[in-house]
Amino acid sequence: MDKKDEEFEELFRKLHKEKALGYLLANYQGFWFDKQLLKGTITFQNHFQANDTDIILATLPKSGTTWLKALTFSIVNRGKYQMEESPLLHTSPHQLIPFLETNMYKSGELPNDYLNSASCPRIFATHVPYQCLPSFILDDLANCRIIYLCRNLLDSFTSLLHFAKQNGFVPRFLEPVAMHRCLKSFSGGKVLYGPYWDQIIGYWEASSKNPQKILFLKFEDLKRDINSSTRNIAEFLGCPFSAEEEKAGLVEEICKLCSLESLMNMECNTKGETEIRFVAKNSSFFRKGEVGDWVNCLTPSMAEKLQKVMEEKFHECGLTFEIQATQFYQANIIIFLE
Ligand code: A3P
Repeated sequence: MDKKDEEFEELFRKLHKEKALGYLLANYQGFWFDKQLLKGTITFQNHFQANDTDIILATLPKSGTTWLKALTFSIVNRGKYQMEESPLLHTSPHQLIPFLETNMYKSGELPNDYLNSASCPRIFATHVPYQCLPSFILDDLANCRIIYLCRNLLDSFTSLLHFAKQNGFVPRFLEPVAMHRCLKSFSGGKVLYGPYWDQIIGYWEASSKNPQKILFLKFEDLKRDINSSTRNIAEFLGCPFSAEEEKAGLVEEICKLCSLESLMNMECNTKGETEIRFVAKNSSFFRKGEVGDWVNCLTPSMAEKLQKVMEEKFHECGLTFEIQATQFYQANIIIFLE
């Protein structure tokens, strides 16, 4: 074990820990990490040197990361590739844009060649809370830009359960006991990168203070008007759509290419796996992509519990989320025994 490993072991030993859903979670700088994730996060904190042109996509798991990756990649590289030759047609968005703490600095390994060889602007993703970003970014030593995307807790929790099931993590998760255990942990904040509300509020406040550097987006707003959101992202990144591009319908083309229907049917996304924190099926990143799908999964009392958490946690900072379905679901509503 080298000196750095020893220091990490020592730090990890001292942190407050709790068990939740099979994970041993350690509380670091107010957020919950497992050991491997923490090692990657600390290496990211200590080694990442941002360039002024870097773009960092920050999200929580299941809040639309894959969508944001596809959109940002397409917006930024629209001068480089015609729509019909977009790398998105044959490569998963997660392979095009790596996660910093899990792909780049996985388990404390030193960064791979991508950091030095990626073409400019480099685009990275992270789920790390704002407060835990490298000081290089927090202290404004680089002019890099951050796009943050979040989602209401009811839908992200529901999406998380389905994702876990797809990847075989929580056997029989749709059974009442397992769901209640998951909800207890989630609503108590004890989940990787949690508490989710503190992660969201961290970026919300940072974006209010520095809107030029951090763009704060909601999944629900992208759903409501993806064309405007795409224009908004392009403007924020300093590459607004020109009159000719608008006239040629490029905004609509990008939105169509990055839509759920389009991405989820591409062979690169129906087959294969991608290493994120673990190896996940590419197909598991695409499901319904709706606002309000929680009605098909959560019991009224579970939904109420999460709504209360949202009201309580977001009330003070004035953050609100749309949580109702934008369409009426006729799908079977699964009713569980309470
Ligand atoms: P659901 O499980 O509610 O369907 P992430 O990318 O952060 O892992 O989030 C996954 C969620 O985003 C899933 O939500 C998935 O269906 C949805 N999603 C993925 N790609 C999308 C797209 N292009 N448009 C809309 N939603 C998308």
